[in-house]
Amino acid sequence: MRWFGGPAMARANALAGRWMAEAGMAVRVDAAGNLVGHMPGSDPVAGTLLLGSHLDTVRDAGAFDGPLGVLAAIECVERLRGRELSLPFAVDVIGFSDEEGLRFGTAYLGSRAVAGTLDAATLETSDAHGVTVREALAAFGDGAEPASRRGEDLLGYVELHIEQGPVLEQRGAAVGVVTAIAGATRAEVRFTGRAGHAGTVPMDLRADAACALAELVLAVEAAARAQPGLVATVGRLAVAPGAPNVIPGSAEASLDVRHAQDRVREAAVAALRERAEEIGARRGVALGWEERLSTPAVAMDARLGELLAAAVADRGQPDVRLPSGAGHDAVALSELTPAAMLFVRCAGGVSHQPDESVDAADVAVALDVLDGFLRRLAERVSGGR
Ligand code: GLV
Ligand code: MN
Ligand code: MN
Repeated sequence: MRWFGGPAMARANALAGRWMAEAGMAVRVDAAGNLVGHMPGSDPVAGTLLLGSHLDTVRDAGAFDGPLGVLAAIECVERLRGRELSLPFAVDVIGFSDEEGLRFGTAYLGSRAVAGTLDAATLETSDAHGVTVREALAAFGDGAEPASRRGEDLLGYVELHIEQGPVLEQRGAAVGVVTAIAGATRAEVRFTGRAGHAGTVPMDLRADAACALAELVLAVEAAARAQPGLVATVGRLAVAPGAPNVIPGSAEASLDVRHAQDRVREAAVAALRERAEEIGARRGVALGWEERLSTPAVAMDARLGELLAAAVADRGQPDVRLPSGAGHDAVALSELTPAAMLFVRCAGGVSHQPDESVDAADVAVALDVLDGFLRRLAERVSGGR
C-alpha cells in the first residue's frame, strides 16, 4: 500500500527514479513529493510535454493502476534514446505522489500541486493522526524544487492508464482514447451520539452513532440505485470506541459519489446530506459532514485526442473512444494544460483490487501508440515554426 508520504511511496520514488536516470533523464522529487524525470528537447523554446500517472495506490491495490502510465512513459523516453532521436520539445515524466487520496480522503494532491490548484482548505486537512496536508508535503517533498508549473511553458499532458472497466474488452480493442472523465465528490461523514454500557442502557434511551451510520449507508445505496448513471460508495467505516460491550459513541465513514453530469451528482450529494441530517435529528446524534473533494466532469483535449487516435490508426488498431468513470491525474492537470488519455484494456474490468491485470501484448500496442503520438506531436511542433 503506497499512501502519500509513506515509506513504500519513498521506495517507489527511489526505484522509479533509478529507472528514469537509466533512461537518461535528470531526476528530482518536487515540493509535493512528485517524482519528475526531465529529458530536454532539441529546441529550447518548443516547450515541454508532460507524461505520467500516479505512483500511490489504494489499499490492497493491483499492480497497474497508476504505475503502468509512469513506466510506459519512461519506456518511451528510453526508446527515443535508443534511436538517438531527439524531439524538439522537452519531456517531463511525472510519477504523481497522491492521486487516490488514501491518507487524506481527498485526491490529486500531487497533480493539483503541479497545476497550482491546491487550496488553503485542502492544505489544512488532517489525516487520521492529525497531520495536515501542509505538514505532510513539507516532510515528504523537496521544498527547494517547486511543484507548480506555468501553463504557457507546456504543450500538454498525456496519461496512459489501465481502463479499470470492461468496455475495451467488450469491443475487442487493446487501447482506446478517453473522451471525458466523470466528476466526483468525496466527503467524510461523522455521527456523534452517546457511548454507554451495552448491558444497562435500554434501547429507547440510546443515541447509537453506528445505527445512524448504518441507516445512511443503505440510503446511499438506494439513492444510487434509483438514479441512472449515479454511483455512490461508502468505502471506509469506523466505529468508536469499538468494543463489543460499548454502545458506539461515534461512527464515521467516507462517501464517494460520481456521475457524468455535474448537476446530477451535486443534487444527489445535497439530498444525501439532507437525509443524514434527518437521520441524525430523529436519532438524537449530531452530524459532521466535511467535503474533501469536488471535481467537475472534464472533457479531454480534442486536438491531443486526435493525435492519439491517429497514432492508434497508424498501429492498425480500431478507433475506440470512451469516457472514464474513474478519476485520474488528468482531471487536475486539465486546469493547467490540454490533457489527454489513452486507456489499455484490462481483464474483466477488474481494478482497485489485487487481481487487476493487463496483457503484455496490449501494453506493447499502447507503447507503440504513445511513441507514434510523440512523433506526430514532434512533426506538428516542428511544422508550426
Ligand atoms: C481513482 O482511482 C478514483 O477514481 O478514485
Ligand atoms: Mn485508482
Ligand atoms: Mn489511477
